[in-house]
Amino acid sequence: MTESLLRVKNLVKRFPVKGGILRRTVDHVHAVSDVSFDLKPGETLGLVGESGCGKSTTGRLILRLIEPTSGEIWFDGKEVTGLSNEQLGSLRRDMQIIFQDPFASLNPRMTVGAIIGEALIIHGLAKTRAEREARVAELLETVGLNADHMRRFPHEFSGGQRQRIGIARALAVSPKLVVCDEPVSALDVSIQAQVVNLLEDLQEKFGLTYLFIAHDLSVVEHTSDRVAVMYLGRIVEIASARDLYTNPLHPYTEALLSAVPIPDPTVRRERIRLQGDVPNPLHPPPGCHFHTRCPIAEKGVCDVKVPELHEATPGHMVSCHLRG
Ligand SMILES: Nc1ncnc2c1ncn2[C@@H]1O[C@H](COP(=O)(O)OP(=O)(O)O)[C@@H](O)[C@H]1O
Ligand SMILES: [Mg+2]
Repeated sequence: MTESLLRVKNLVKRFPVKGGILRRTVDHVHAVSDVSFDLKPGETLGLVGESGCGKSTTGRLILRLIEPTSGEIWFDGKEVTGLSNEQLGSLRRDMQIIFQDPFASLNPRMTVGAIIGEALIIHGLAKTRAEREARVAELLETVGLNADHMRRFPHEFSGGQRQRIGIARALAVSPKLVVCDEPVSALDVSIQAQVVNLLEDLQEKFGLTYLFIAHDLSVVEHTSDRVAVMYLGRIVEIASARDLYTNPLHPYTEALLSAVPIPDPTVRRERIRLQGDVPNPLHPPPGCHFHTRCPIAEKGVCDVKVPELHEATPGHMVSCHLRG
């Protein structure tokens, strides 16, 4: 068995909510609750779920942009939870992120060259200005832009081009793992496929491992080897993309899948409309988080006991009392 590049074990993140004139912690947002998964080198794991279910928080925890409440993160065989910036050393370079919003994530006052070159300076990857410019030029061409774009500012580019700049910035330090946090959600539909194709080409070229975050299943179907479905801070199902799309086990996955358009007009899929809204992550429901909206939930079981993520068939994990 191949060694995992990334292993996440029982990851928990609760954000304190302050209140009153003393700004005391009065409550907690349960953003990520007991999340575990692993990623093999060169693999793409899709992480899917509705807005607010904890996908970005999971990505930011992995990158150590925020600290977990509890749980473990292993990278390249080393536990990195709790390590300081100095102790992390070159591991900081090995993990990069591409953000959802290419408008907000690029400093408008910096040239593209300075934005991409910044990481090279921080990590001591280019000794002279000429060296740095040569590397920036190479990176711009790698993502399908022109070398002379380095002298321009972010506002001079379209959304798709800005996302390419964000990708070049992430690649500048030759990372192993890239967290792609809804990299195409903010782009025109006509541009989305180009950026997804670019990410796939780059993965092959540089042997990258991706955690590919999306809010619906249609984007990850073709990009991901495996897909994890998240609901209100928990992973409810993980399987190979093929298994998940052809044989979904969790009722929530079924509902998400029923919303994905099928290109073949002879295939009909009944649209499953979930009742109610996603519960407030301040007070997640007891038992299975999904039971309040689940079409098959059983009283006395699903509203009482937290279902364990268990292996239903080889490699296909589901967290449901009634399925698998
Ligand atoms: N810094 C923060 N402080 C307080 N709550 C947060 C913070 N970041 C995220 N949250 C909350 O955590 C939950 C998960 O958010 P997030 O991970 O951004 O979800 P997603 O990326 O799936 O849309 C949401 O309820 C969100 O409001
Ligand atoms: Mg998000």
